[in-house]
Amino acid sequence: MLCWVLFLDKTEPTISITVVGASGDLAKRKIFPALFVLFYEDHLPKHFTIYGYARSKLTDEELRNMISKTLTCRIDKWGNCSDKRDQFLQRCFYHSGQYNSEENFSELDIKLKEKEVGRLPNRLFFLSIPPNIFVDVVRCVSRCTSSATGWTRVIVEKPFGRDLESSREMTKSLQQYLTEGQIFRIDHYLGKELVENLSVLRFSNLVFEPLWSRTYIRNVQLIFLEDFGTEGRGGYFDSYGIIRDIMQNHLLQMLALFAMETPVSLDAEDIRNEKVKVLRSMRPLQLDDVIIGQYKGHIKGGKSYPAYTDDPTVPKDSLTATFSALALFIDNARWDGVPFLMKAGKALHTRRAEIRVQFRHVPGNLFKTNFGTDLDKATNELVIRVQPDEAIYLKINNKIPGLGMRIDRSKLNLLYATRYSNAIPDAYERLLLDAIKGEHRLFIRSDELDAAWALFTPLLKDLEEKKTVPELYPYGSRGPIGAHYLAAKHNVRWGDLSEENPEVSSYIPIHRMVE
Ligand code: BG6
Repeated sequence: MLCWVLFLDKTEPTISITVVGASGDLAKRKIFPALFVLFYEDHLPKHFTIYGYARSKLTDEELRNMISKTLTCRIDKWGNCSDKRDQFLQRCFYHSGQYNSEENFSELDIKLKEKEVGRLPNRLFFLSIPPNIFVDVVRCVSRCTSSATGWTRVIVEKPFGRDLESSREMTKSLQQYLTEGQIFRIDHYLGKELVENLSVLRFSNLVFEPLWSRTYIRNVQLIFLEDFGTEGRGGYFDSYGIIRDIMQNHLLQMLALFAMETPVSLDAEDIRNEKVKVLRSMRPLQLDDVIIGQYKGHIKGGKSYPAYTDDPTVPKDSLTATFSALALFIDNARWDGVPFLMKAGKALHTRRAEIRVQFRHVPGNLFKTNFGTDLDKATNELVIRVQPDEAIYLKINNKIPGLGMRIDRSKLNLLYATRYSNAIPDAYERLLLDAIKGEHRLFIRSDELDAAWALFTPLLKDLEEKKTVPELYPYGSRGPIGAHYLAAKHNVRWGDLSEENPEVSSYIPIHRMVE
């Protein structure tokens, strides 16, 4: 054994990945499966070890049993999946410890060193734990479990505070123990295929970039809908609400990527510099540009759907928003006056996340007599459907073949499932791989986080201080009617709803667009 150790190449790296909070839901559902896919597809370095760390007393074997249930062979269902699964599980171990115990983290350090012996040790920690214990864990990691000669990186995931002040507090505390370069703040929407593709679509296609401004774009809509409620997560959700849970991060990140200026390069700092500029150019949010809603119980087809406040972990008089729609503006030369509408909600009629770009009317349109009076319906619309059924499509006007001149709305449709045979990676696969490579492009820098909170905090405080009562909407519906009035106020109609009901010109009378 000793001789063998002497022959090891000490410059050859090995990576130890520790999932802190290994018995939690996120770890089981997302992190271990993502690590397995990376292993299965040979993306993990040759030498690696995975450790689960949590308070429960488990053996290595029990951890393996626990995680093996969620590992799937996505690509090659009939191939050597079970062999690969066994090989992967043999490299997974468990250490039980308290989250604030330097002693327990030192014990982990000894175990990691045993596996790393003779190689250059790099260490990655994924904190899959509640944010109130982030700092304890980071302190223990930095004092007792950092790599002495290789790198040490820590992945954290939202919530990063609940307002500007608490987020700054958390950033400051984390930076006591880690440099900004060691911190990888996840927003898993940045790891989604179509969100990553946004820059490719825009910056590598001549047909889009010249149109990407107030000159040609009438409005942009960022939409997140879920067809299930907070089932089981009411406790967490009630102190955050939909604005903090989805809008301040996932939708705002998509907006920043969509609206940023061309970065100097694809380097992480260049991209993040441009995103921060967008966030800092945003007009303060006005209370009358926001509507909030909360789902109520509903009986449909003999089945009863619960109200948000039926969740036993939610107070009966909760005013927490499970739906919100907002109008945002970017006060810069490119986007001056263009409404960016956001809509996010739980317990709605469908599940989808998408960006919709509605273009202006064609000036002096030759065919206007063929479109009837509703010219809004004849404008081009570009839809980037993030999920499900990933697609990019452009709605155009086209002549229906035949004699005469009938025009319809058709789609130039890039449906991923038809065009590409490769499976779309889960966001966590991409993000874990990037963290292993030290690539920060898809992670949130502290000044970005700060700018995002600076935008939303005054609004959130206002809503809370005024005890704004959310508009109730039935579980499984299209959400509160207030969202339509908000859109109409800005001469916008929600593209998702018009698409579902092409014959209905609008849910409410829409003011004519003044161009
Ligand atoms: C999380 C939110 O960040 O994103 C959840 O906390 C939400 O409330 C989830 O359900 C949605 O993620 P995805 O990838 O399923 O769209």
